[in-house]
Formats: sequence, C-alpha cells, structure tokens
Amino acid sequence: PLIPIVLSGGAGTRLWPVSREGHPKPFMKLPDGQSLLAKTYLRAMGGDHVADVLTITNRDYYFSSKDEFNRVVEQSSCNVKGSFLLEPFGRNTAPAIALGALWARELHGPGATLLVLPSDHLIQDARAFHANVREAVVAAGEGQLVTFGIPAASPETGFGYIEGGETLGTGLARGIRRFTEKPSLAKAQEFVASGNYFWNSGMFCFTADTLLEELAAHAPQMHQALMACWENTWQASDDKWRVLEIDAQTFGDVPDLSIDYAVMEHSSRGVVVPAAFDWSDIGSWNALGALLPEDEQGNRTQGDTVLIKASNNLIQSEDRLVAVLGVDHLVIVDTPDALLVAHKDHVQDVRQVVTELRTMG
Ligand code: GDD
Ligand code: MG
Repeated sequence: PLIPIVLSGGAGTRLWPVSREGHPKPFMKLPDGQSLLAKTYLRAMGGDHVADVLTITNRDYYFSSKDEFNRVVEQSSCNVKGSFLLEPFGRNTAPAIALGALWARELHGPGATLLVLPSDHLIQDARAFHANVREAVVAAGEGQLVTFGIPAASPETGFGYIEGGETLGTGLARGIRRFTEKPSLAKAQEFVASGNYFWNSGMFCFTADTLLEELAAHAPQMHQALMACWENTWQASDDKWRVLEIDAQTFGDVPDLSIDYAVMEHSSRGVVVPAAFDWSDIGSWNALGALLPEDEQGNRTQGDTVLIKASNNLIQSEDRLVAVLGVDHLVIVDTPDALLVAHKDHVQDVRQVVTELRTMG
C-alpha cells in the first residue's frame, strides 16, 4: 500500500497574526475558503491504493486535525482510515518521519511505501502530481529515497537544492549528485545560474525500511534514541481512528534535526523526480498575497478595504474596514486582536515579531 504521511507540526510564524500557536498555518483558510491541511488531505487521498493516512502533528492540534480530516473524508466520500501520531513538542522532520516509518513498518510491513506530504504548499494540478507519485513509487520500490524537484528559478535561501545527475532506467527519475539544504545566498545564486539544480519540494517517497536504514547509517544517535522512544509510544485504535502518543521523556533525548540535514545531504540513495506539476510554498505574506487578484495599481486585497492613492499593497482584513491612503509596498493584516503593518521587503522577518512576543511572555 501507499501510505501518505501528512506533516503539520511546524509553527508558520512568518504568517502572524493569522497563523498563531493556537491556530497555525495548516489551519489557515486560503482565499478559496479551504485550509492548507484540507488541501493536503485531498492530495493524500487522491493517490492510488491509499487506505490509511497518517498525520504527524503536535498533540494540541489533534482535534482540529481530526475535524479537517473528517470534513475531507465526507466531501470526497472515500473510505480512508485516519491515523494520528501526536508529538508532545516538535523535534523537526527527521524524528517525525522516522517514527512514521516505524509505525508503517509495524502495521503494513517493511515494504510499506510512504509518501511524505508537508502541509505548507499549494499544488493545483492534482493529475500531474499523482502521475509523478506513480514514478516515485517505482523508484521507492527499488530502495531509493525519492524527492520531487522544482526547477530552481530564483536564489531562495529557504529551500533545499538538488543537483540533478544521470537519468535512471526508463522513467523520469534522475540520480542526485548533491543535496544542499538552505545554502548561502552566494551558493544559491551559483546553483541557479548553473541551470542543473532543483528546489527540493519537501515531499518524499520511500519505503519504511529504506528510510530507517539510511537514518541508522547517517544519524545513528537519532536512530537509537528513536528506537527507545518507539518502545514507549502509546497506541489506541478503533474501526475508524488510530492514535499514537509519543512519550515526552524519551522523545526529549532525540536530536532536533530536519530530514534534509540528517539524511538527504548524506545519502547516496537519493533520486529526484522532476515535478510536472505547479508548486508554491506558502511561506510568507507575499506568497499568500500572490493568490489574490491584483488591481490596476498592483494592490491585492481581501475583506473590506478602501484604497486611495495606494499602490502595490497587500491588505487582508477579517472583520473591520481597513482604509489606506497614499502608501505603497505595505502588508497590512488585520485580525480581531492583532494588526500587522510591515514593509513588503520585510515579510521574511515577521517571525521576529513572534519571537519578541514570546520573550514578553
Ligand atoms: N509533525 C511535525 N513535527 N511536523 C513538522 C515539524 C515537527 O517537529 N517541523 C516541521 N514540520 C512540518 C511543517 O509543518 C511543514 O509542513 C513541513 O514539516 C516542513 O517543515 P518546514 O519547517 O516548513 O521546512 P522548511 O520549509 O524550512 O524546509 C523544507 O521544505 C522546503 C520546501 O518548502 C525542506 O525540506 C527544504 O529542503 C524544502 O526546500
Ligand atoms: Mg516550509
């Protein structure tokens, strides 16, 4: 079987004040009214032979994740079981995915194929996506760690970069010459200029065994700590749901590292399937704003707004009327209890607001 693993434990602090600790990015509604998490579930359930979807998230988001899952199951009337692996706190993506692999191996056997889906992207062309997944499943069956590569169009430093190697066999998959997570700007510029690099989309496909073998080889300490943690993981299930709760004490001993740093940068079993689908990372207000229609002055707005002599602004309001006069290149996001006013060039720094708020307590 193909087992989608939906990751939604990240905070999404660059989308404050709509994305909050109690209401993080995966639950944010996009302009079409659907949340990123619901879109990810739809994508997961659209795969071939999917009978079980595993969500890995913080335990605080269990009920809201389950609600989204239920809604999607009802809407698409498919018969998919919901499993939830709940973390007491975040330890980044490598531990989360490895625990998912341990679960899948126990339940579905060592050859269970996992499709890791972060819940912070937008993909419109589902058909092209699933065609690529079919390619990936074949390569995963041969013991590879499969990534989905997006042609690197600009020197974004927040992504992983994949240097494409030889084409393998008859399919679309290519070897990975080098995987570089979050390079410096100079390196990213060099990669983009060379023309042979992809951005890592953050989605992966591999069998449970391949991932666990590579983790043991390249991050032995993490692997060992996770085995102890898995022993103490508490499980419950009924006909419809399965819930696993990770033990906080043993999980605390697990290093905090992403799969990109822990495994992908070191493994020689990585391959890349060049994406035939559109992909955007909803990482900042600029990216989210790009989903809204633009007026003649380059403003993008949602909610009740009045604009006079204003250009190139992004304005989003939940309840109140927002009027702007004579300003440009601003991001204004109004919510009932917090208002963000930022220059468009500083949207990446919105996370600093959250850091500041945390230190204030
Ligand atoms: N359950 C769980 N626990 N999920 C997590 C955790 C965690 O501790 N940390 C992050 N996630 C989830 C996030 O919610 C997101 O859906 C996904 O895992 C990826 O984490 P990010 O923190 O958003 O990673 P990134 O954007 O910095 O980098 C990754 O994605 C890029 C593409 O968007 C990397 O894979 C890059 O190589 C890639 O280019
Ligand atoms: Mg991300």
